[in-house]
Amino acid sequence: MTPTPTTPTMPATTITLDTARCLSTAVHEHGIDPDVLAPGGPATRTAQALTQRLEASRGTGWERWRLLAEGAMRDEHVRGVKAIADRYAGQLDNVVVLGIGGSALGNIALQSALNPLTHNLDPKRTHPRLFVLDNADPVPFHQTLSLITSEDPAFDRTLFVVISKSGETAETAAQFLIVRDILQRARGNGHADRMIAVTDPTTGTMRRLCDAAGYATLPVPEGVGGRFSALSPVGLVSCALCGLDIDGLLDGAATMERACRDEDLHANPAAKLATVLVELGQRQGKTVHVMMPYANQLYLLADWWRQLWAESLGKVVRGVQGVTYAGYTPVKALGATDQHSQVQLYREGPNDKAIIFLEVEKFATDVVIPAGLGEDALAYLEGSSLATLLSAEKKATEFALTESRRPNLTIKFPEVTPHTVGQFMMLWQVATAYAGLMLGVDAYDQPAVELGKKATFALMGKPGYDDLRARLGG
Ligand code: PA5
Repeated sequence: MTPTPTTPTMPATTITLDTARCLSTAVHEHGIDPDVLAPGGPATRTAQALTQRLEASRGTGWERWRLLAEGAMRDEHVRGVKAIADRYAGQLDNVVVLGIGGSALGNIALQSALNPLTHNLDPKRTHPRLFVLDNADPVPFHQTLSLITSEDPAFDRTLFVVISKSGETAETAAQFLIVRDILQRARGNGHADRMIAVTDPTTGTMRRLCDAAGYATLPVPEGVGGRFSALSPVGLVSCALCGLDIDGLLDGAATMERACRDEDLHANPAAKLATVLVELGQRQGKTVHVMMPYANQLYLLADWWRQLWAESLGKVVRGVQGVTYAGYTPVKALGATDQHSQVQLYREGPNDKAIIFLEVEKFATDVVIPAGLGEDALAYLEGSSLATLLSAEKKATEFALTESRRPNLTIKFPEVTPHTVGQFMMLWQVATAYAGLMLGVDAYDQPAVELGKKATFALMGKPGYDDLRARLGG
């Protein structure tokens, strides 16, 4: 097998959005009437009005995440993150993130998109391995710590990064207490340089404990909620420690953020994306949104997106006409793998889905299929390449879905780079803000998550939850 590096190109290319196969001209009665999206049509007027509203709230309240990629907030974060990366440069074999939900998914997505999928296994890697321990599952937690302690018993070359905006999340707090205890036993009072924290700058239990222990900290800025925080120190610090280009990532996000201020629906990728998906959802009953990257390295970006889309939009709406339930069910699939698992359902099952393909125009590496092997039945593959095959499979699935009148759109990455991944994250964050306004929901709260959190506190014996504990039969 001979991997063929492709010729490098200009880095700052942009991702593109193709929604043509969401229109009735492509998928008939399951698509959007093109007049809705035409210049002067209803969707263009709505997008203009919503863009003006978002411009007015941009950078305020819970929309401070729109300032993460440019200006003073970016400068402050990049300075802090690079200072940490410089301080530990060359000294680490392992970075272990403790965090969950919005405090973990960005780290996982960025690492898998931008470092080789074999990064942790590569003995020649130049930067530390990354482990993200998000769940309170004792098995992976124990396995990871056992692996690390078998190689690095005194944690001389391991840094733990605890991430929690609230500083109160049970899963993260439990992991933190265990790790702090292990570090204190291994290193005594000198353990403080093995743990850093990303948490609220002033409040919360985590902030108090970290200040008391002397751990270095970075801020989760005010007005930046968990699922909108990947481009803050929450996501940046593991990137920088593991050798990723955070400037490129933020440059890409800034480019997209600017484009998403345009009042013209067709020049504003986030307004267009939200308009198309909400139109399909509300008028065509496409309430299941499937993100299907044709690239393994983008697969966990779909996991990050799943939280953003689900937790932001899935809300009860109490209006004058009564109660309705907003939101779309996000599903992730992988092309071409899931052609052999899910596409039967997507083509012939309930026509309730919009498929969001992610396509890569130019892979970092391609692998040529040898020619002249004399296998007549497989001759069509000879001399071609894996990237050509994967690209053909994506086009074929797109064609087959369209033939079955299943709306689908494509977000195309010219290449997977920090710049294009930064664009992608910002695109979906802004699209979520538009979709929240279109659906009449607050995209920034998560009231339905609270009861489960409180019930966990009650079951675990936290003071102040006696009534709930009684209701739970505890
Ligand atoms: O998006 C969110 O707000 C959540 O997923 C949180 O990120 C998650 O609950 C973890 O919260 P915290 O960072 O406060 O520990």
